[in-house]
Order: sequence, then structure tokens, then C-alpha cells
Amino acid sequence: MNELFQKKVQILHHIKVGSGYFRIGLAFPELARIARPGQFVMVRLPERRIPLLRRPFSVHNRLVEGEEVYGFELLYKVVGKGTQALSGLKAGDLLDVLGPLGNGFSCPEGIRDVLLVAGGIGVASLYYLALFLAEHRAVRSTVFLGGRTAADILCQRAFESMGTKVCITTEDGTLGEKGLITSMVQEALKVDGNPDMIYACGPNPMLKAVGDIAATYDVRCQISLETAMVCGFGACLGCAVEKADSRGAYFHACTDGPVFDSRAIVIQT
Ligand SMILES: Cc1cc2nc3c(=O)[nH]c(=O)nc-3n(C[C@H](O)[C@H](O)[C@H](O)COP(=O)(O)OP(=O)(O)OC[C@H]3O[C@@H](n4cnc5c(N)ncnc54)[C@H](O)[C@@H]3O)c2cc1C
Ligand code: FES
Repeated sequence: MNELFQKKVQILHHIKVGSGYFRIGLAFPELARIARPGQFVMVRLPERRIPLLRRPFSVHNRLVEGEEVYGFELLYKVVGKGTQALSGLKAGDLLDVLGPLGNGFSCPEGIRDVLLVAGGIGVASLYYLALFLAEHRAVRSTVFLGGRTAADILCQRAFESMGTKVCITTEDGTLGEKGLITSMVQEALKVDGNPDMIYACGPNPMLKAVGDIAATYDVRCQISLETAMVCGFGACLGCAVEKADSRGAYFHACTDGPVFDSRAIVIQT
């Protein structure tokens, strides 16, 4: 297993970035230095009964000043009791953090042209991946951001400021093209040809559609699942994901994933 840290860390900043969306900065340099794109942390609010269990969140950004890494950020959406309670914390409060966990995205040598496909809050892990690709590889990235409405489209400017081309769809047409992000991805493959890799994170129906498109065009595709998790490190068996090549056999999303080759798993929709 990779190096793992657990401690109560200070919240450096906690910013509302949209309706129901927050960005939280955590003072945890040891973890931030080694976390790879696609890895996640399990967080718990200290001394609170609700939620009792930890919740998983992707590493979203590394906090750096000069050469010094001093922490990292999470980007999250309020969906239930845990994220609601988290949204009530403020700078200076403590958060119990365990990580980095899981197997992240792989970025093979030689990839030059990639598509990043984010459905809603799935952008959290893909932004960190885009940063990594921009820093460590000469890769041309195009990011596709999809959401129900304009409020679900996050990080547009941040991607643009690192030189990434951004394509947007919303289901209600309030930002970008009206429709589903998967239609736009399919169109891009038809017109621009095959990229070396597609990376995707978002709701399962979107991931299934992206995996199918990748198979049709014979493009390698890695998807990051947001399966519900209890422990995050292989102990509870609560995150089973069926293997595609032997039905009835399972991966653990938390230790084998959360990132998988799209052909390796059965995506439940
Ligand atoms: C590896 C991984 C990385 C993740 N990264 C992020 C991230 O960066 N930002 C972020 O906002 N969220 C992320 N999630 C999802 C996040 O963990 C859940 O939204 C969170 O646990 C919900 O907790 P809650 O107590 O607020 O909701 P609960 O009270 O537990 O649930 C409220 C509602 O949300 C639904 N729900 C709960 N968990 C999920 C889920 N995983 N996917 C879809 N619906 C769910 C429940 O079915 C229920 O309807 C990630 C999940 C995984 C597994
Ligand atoms: S979340 Fe417990 S085994 Fe994966």
C-alpha cells in the first residue's frame, strides 16, 4: 500500500463557489505532496455524531507557494447530511482526514492528446489531473464540462487559464450548448479524430455512455467511479464493482479503483 496519513488538519479557507458547491483548503502538506490525480481522501468531522462515517472526496488541487506545497483542496457538492455538516465548518476549524487512498489515473508516457469528460462535480478530480498533465507531460487537453444547468459548470476559468480548451453543455441550455456532454464528445471524435486517451468522472450513466463511445472509436478510456464507500481502504466490502470479464467477480472501488479502464468493469446505471 502507498504511504497513508491520518490526522486532524486545519481548514485554511472554505469558499462557496456556486449554489451548493464549496471549495475547502486543508493544511496537510505531507498528503498533498504525494497525492496523485484520481486519488481521494476520507474525511470526518471531529467530535460530531453526524455523519458518523467518513465520506470520500477527490483531491482537487494542490496548494503551493513558491516551491513549497502547504496543502490541498477539495471541491464538493452538498447532497446530504455529511456534506451539509461539512459546509458549516469555517477556516480555522479542524477536519479529520485519511489518505491519499485508491488508485488514480494513469498517464502513460507518450500520450499527447487527451479528452477530459466531467459530469457535474466529477470535475473535482479531473481538474487535478489537468494540472498534473500540464506540469509533467507535453499533453494537449480538451475538457468537456456537462451539467444540468449553468450553476453545475465549475472550474471553467481555471481550465482556460492553464490553456485547456473548454467545451460546455447544459441540459437546459443556460450555458454552452443545450444537450448532453456525451453527444458533444461523440461529435468531437467524429470531427477531430481519436485522442490518445479519454479520462472521465461523473454520474454512472454518463460514464457508461463515455465508455461505449470510447469502445466504438477504439480509444483508451479511464473512468473514475463515485461509488458509495464506507471505509475507503478495503475493509468493509461495501464498494463492490463487477468485473467485465468474469461476471460474478468483483473489484473494490476503493482499493482497485476508483479509476478503472472502462472495459474492465460493468457500470451500473
Ligand atoms: C472516490 C470518490 C470520490 C468522490 N469525490 C467527490 C468530490 O470530489 N466531490 C464531491 O462533491 N463528491 C465526491 N464524491 C461523492 C461524495 O463522497 C458523496 O457526495 C458524499 O459521500 C455524500 O455524503 P452525504 O452524507 O452528504 O450524503 P448522504 O446523506 O450519504 O447521501 C445523500 C444523497 O446523496 C446520494 N449519494 C451519496 N453518495 C453518493 C455518491 N458517491 N454518488 C452519488 N450519489 C451519492 C445518496 O444516495 C443520497 O441520495 C466522491 C465519491 C467517491 C467514492
Ligand atoms: S469502501 Fe470499504 S471496502 Fe471499499
